[in-house]
Amino acid sequence: MTKKACITGITGQDGSYLAEYLLGLGYEVHGLVRRVALEQPEQRLSRLRPVLKRIHLHAANLDSYASVFHVCSRNAFDECYHLAAQSFVAESFADGFSTMATNINGTHYILSALRELQPNCKFYFAGSSEMFGKVKETPQRETTPFHPRSPYGISKVAGFHLSMNYREAYGMYCCNGILFNHESPRRGYEFVTRKISDGVARIQAGLASELRLGNLEARRDWGHARDYVRAMHLMLQQPSPDDYVIATGETHSVREFCELAFAEAGLDYREYVKQDASVYRPAEVDLLWGDSSKARAVLQWQPTGSFTDLVTEMVQADLQLHLPARNADLAAVQPD
Ligand code: NAP
Ligand code: GDD
Repeated sequence: MTKKACITGITGQDGSYLAEYLLGLGYEVHGLVRRVALEQPEQRLSRLRPVLKRIHLHAANLDSYASVFHVCSRNAFDECYHLAAQSFVAESFADGFSTMATNINGTHYILSALRELQPNCKFYFAGSSEMFGKVKETPQRETTPFHPRSPYGISKVAGFHLSMNYREAYGMYCCNGILFNHESPRRGYEFVTRKISDGVARIQAGLASELRLGNLEARRDWGHARDYVRAMHLMLQQPSPDDYVIATGETHSVREFCELAFAEAGLDYREYVKQDASVYRPAEVDLLWGDSSKARAVLQWQPTGSFTDLVTEMVQADLQLHLPARNADLAAVQPD
């Protein structure tokens, strides 16, 4: 029988890759989106363009229990991937209240509605390496204690415990992914990798002359989003629910990302990157480096591609996006 999956946050980077992946496996894919997305599909559903005709979208806002309950009362799901969140760490310092409300209550609403209406639906929670924050050991694994450093990180720790509590208290199949940073050409522009790849392309196209960044020494374990959505699916296919770290096992600095990204366009990052104190965070997570041995052994999961491949793919994609601007510029200076 065809399996039905529900993806909250389907319009985001991970949601769009997961929708494609599950469709490829023969799933019927449903997504929860904010009503405004249905009103402005060109902008807000752009990542879903290739699959839009093959998925079912339902209007719901994580801030409203009624809207979540409404969707769950009219559709029966086998699996629910709860990816929706205010996911930008810097924004969570700017407005911790709304980040907490959306991320904590939103997770609680989904779990509560599922418990009430579809207790056998398997549930995936999008936990984060930001939960480790000021890390207690390196590399970080499932048993590493949490020490979040931002309202975002705190909200994810709360979501993690909510999901675990529904598993223990009500016997629901709830899994927590503890995913380290994962990127792609679909990454939002405010995250540092996309800010850099887009910055390189804009500089190359003559649309910008510098790129202003914050802490270049922060280190992250960066993988590819396409690999990480495979892991989410694998977690829900096991005999019993559990929690898993998903990471590449390599750590690189923002500076290294810059160096490779600018080099991909034949540029030296030192000539263009300017450090801007206003981009620094009140409390930084200096180092993330994951140990995904458990996922590799139990789920038979492993990442594909290297850090360099990831940087190359992102920069090349943004160079392509900015090509029209560059060509128009060249045409303007060319004689007839
Ligand atoms: P993303 O691109 O920022 O997508 C976030 C999604 O959440 C979007 O679809 C967004 O919808 C939706 N959303 C936000 N607030 C909402 C609300 N009030 N009601 C309904 N939907 C709402 O994030 P991502 O990179 O795909 O990450 C997916 C999940 O994994 C997030 O929970 C994130 O915190 C977590 N995570 C990400 C990473 C990573 O490195 N990417 C690592 C660990 C964990 P709109 O399009 O309407 O804004
Ligand atoms: N965004 C941003 N912009 N970050 C910068 C900049 C800048 O101009 N300059 C330096 N950084 C540093 C940040 O201080 C941070 O240490 C690092 O680059 C990565 O920042 P982000 O790309 O914004 O990601 P993040 O690590 O804070 O959070 C992402 O990964 C988490 C998993 O560890 C998000 O996707 C979270 O949702 C996710 O949970």
